[in-house]
Amino acid sequence: MPMFHSPCLPTQSRSNPHHRPRLTASRIRESLTTRFTKCVCSLLLTLLLIGGIVVFVLWLNLRPHRPHLHLAEFAAPGLADPAGLADSVISFNVTDRNPNQKIGIYYDAMVGSVYYRDRLVGSGQVMFPFYQPPKNTTAITGQIAGARIAAGGTLAAQLAGDVARGRIPLRFELGSTIRFKVKTWDTHRHHLHVECDVVVGSDGSALPESKNKRCPIYFI
Ligand SMILES: *[C@@H]1O[C@H](CO)[C@@H](O)[C@H](O)[C@H]1NC(C)=O
Ligand SMILES: *[C@@H]1O[C@H](CO)[C@@H](O)[C@H](O)[C@H]1NC(C)=O
Repeated sequence: MPMFHSPCLPTQSRSNPHHRPRLTASRIRESLTTRFTKCVCSLLLTLLLIGGIVVFVLWLNLRPHRPHLHLAEFAAPGLADPAGLADSVISFNVTDRNPNQKIGIYYDAMVGSVYYRDRLVGSGQVMFPFYQPPKNTTAITGQIAGARIAAGGTLAAQLAGDVARGRIPLRFELGSTIRFKVKTWDTHRHHLHVECDVVVGSDGSALPESKNKRCPIYFI
């Protein structure tokens, strides 16, 4: 008859009328000690389990959620210029929402970069360090100086073709280091990397399909 015996309860007598065990005092003491040890062990295990569940529930509630970033506006008007992006500015507006109820986020300085066919065509610092309170939406707006695309090169030819087609695929990236603030306790730093794919038209403005799209983020 397999049964689970709680070590804290007296075990049922398995005595057999024909074969009654004769326990000496030392064997009784030994068995009581064993039972006591088992009882303490199971109590400790139960406490550990309850503690684990409490920590897990706290972690579920306090665990930081990553910020949500959406590209609201983007314009690189210099793209239509035959000289490419040289001496022009790229402007953008990314909405950055902290979805956490109780966790604030500290951002270090933020750097923006624009790539055309994996070639860097503009970069610069776009935000000074800032603190974002819980449930807050901050607009990250700024301007980046465009870089010169050498005339006569393959890239310039590809760009001219894309401008003529009215679809210029760009990648806009934001990078920063963030720290979550849970009440008075700060977490360590995470390197935040945001990637927005954006298609601009011949005038350099983001096409509607590229607006208000969520930008994936990575921690590196
Ligand atoms: C950025 O976009 C948000 C959302 O569309 C808007 O509320 C905000 O006014 C914009 N900020 C600037 C500076 O354009
Ligand atoms: C978000 O936080 C910033 C900085 O603390 C503040 O200036 C801004 O008003 C806040 N926005 C909202 C919608 O609460």
